[in-house]
Amino acid sequence: MSSNREHFSSRLGFILAAAGSAVGIGNLVGFPVSATKNGGGAFLLIYALFVAFICLPVMMAEMAMGRKAQKDPYGAYKKLSDRSTKWSIAGMLGVITPFMIAVFYMVITVWIFGYLAQTTLGNLDLLAQPEHFDTFINNTNVFWYMIVVAVIVNLILVGGVKEGIEKASKVLMPALFVLLIGLVAYVLTLDNAMAGVKFYIVPDISKLNAGVLNGALSQAFFSLSLGMGILMTYASYISKKDDIVGGARMVAITDSLVAFIAGLMVLPAIFSFNPNTNPEELSDSSVSMIFVYLPKLLLALQSDIGYVGASLVAGVFFLLVFFAAITSLVSIVEVPTATLIEEARLSRKKALMVLAASIGILTVMCTMSFGMVEWLTKFTWYGGANKSMFDLVYDIFYDTILPLNGLIVCIFVMYKWKKAKLSEELAQGCEGYEGSWMEKYVNFSLSTFIPVILLAIFINTVATKFF
Ligand code: PHE
Repeated sequence: MSSNREHFSSRLGFILAAAGSAVGIGNLVGFPVSATKNGGGAFLLIYALFVAFICLPVMMAEMAMGRKAQKDPYGAYKKLSDRSTKWSIAGMLGVITPFMIAVFYMVITVWIFGYLAQTTLGNLDLLAQPEHFDTFINNTNVFWYMIVVAVIVNLILVGGVKEGIEKASKVLMPALFVLLIGLVAYVLTLDNAMAGVKFYIVPDISKLNAGVLNGALSQAFFSLSLGMGILMTYASYISKKDDIVGGARMVAITDSLVAFIAGLMVLPAIFSFNPNTNPEELSDSSVSMIFVYLPKLLLALQSDIGYVGASLVAGVFFLLVFFAAITSLVSIVEVPTATLIEEARLSRKKALMVLAASIGILTVMCTMSFGMVEWLTKFTWYGGANKSMFDLVYDIFYDTILPLNGLIVCIFVMYKWKKAKLSEELAQGCEGYEGSWMEKYVNFSLSTFIPVILLAIFINTVATKFF
């Protein structure tokens, strides 16, 4: 079975696909804004430390599980635990989580595509109106955009690992990088650009507190696509000769680098638009930054470069975010796809049909939960007023279950699968791993403080979100 399992054609293909998953909406706007609000350079440093010392070992563990088992997350937990029922439940959670995150990410990707289409049609002035976003998300036109996004994702995934995911990543990732660098180069020429760079980079240690640290770690976790079963699934498509340790490091570096560079695009733009911006007043939510604040700011560029010029810059920006979102969406839908192919023995086409229908229905419901359908807007029973079905999916699966899944990975590899087997797997393709300081650190951290930190985040989230 595993002999005819599909594989990436090269290590580069795997790294680009995994980096494509990791680089998403969170990197481009959410990261720069929260860095600026929460201590600038001090935040950047802490974030880098979290990525290197907490996230990287978890990433290596996820990848090792996937490659060893050559299976989707459900199959991996089952196989590596010798079919234990308890661990199969963990595996199920490892598939339900990406399935549900696919729903909320699809909703946002559809909006991005809508904004991209609207800018291309020359409607930037409309997008920049204060109430436009609310009108837009409640207009039935979003369903047309949804169909286009679903078709794109399906076309990529139906091609499979090599011809679909890998090929798309090899085009979209370099394109994304070029668009990003182009925008940075342009934005840095604007008046007051450097004021923004200063706020982003100069450290302000006084801003760091427990809440900021918690937020930074959760952000790093989400940004690296951890706890979603994605890296486990993608690593199941690489061979024993490939170096997981080096691959994980490359993915973490690429993801963090893109997030960092995005700050050199977003902050100069914000400060050039309004030199007196108070960073503390910037919205925490990537959604309101992307769909409400930035269109206003992009339209203001017309005083310099005219309406067409401003629309062009806006178009490039939304295209960039769209590319980032599509590669992430593809990666997350691939997880339940792999499960249906392997566990339910469906063909790839059939698996995708089942998922298009099921993710589709839930996405439509979430899309309607902003006002189109009354009862979907009122999920008040779980967390107070103003909660919608979209909030429910977001709060449970993104905020709460991700750190839990990370915790489960740590406990599984350390106490069920065992250190020696993890080391043996990581050493395949990475000469010198066994006996290295890296091995010692990975085994020590995954069996001690990393699960404790993830447990603390999980408990804290449950307590604040649901009680
Ligand atoms: N790393 C992605 C991002 O920053 C997270 C993600 C991956 C979300 C895959 C959904 C699917 O947006």
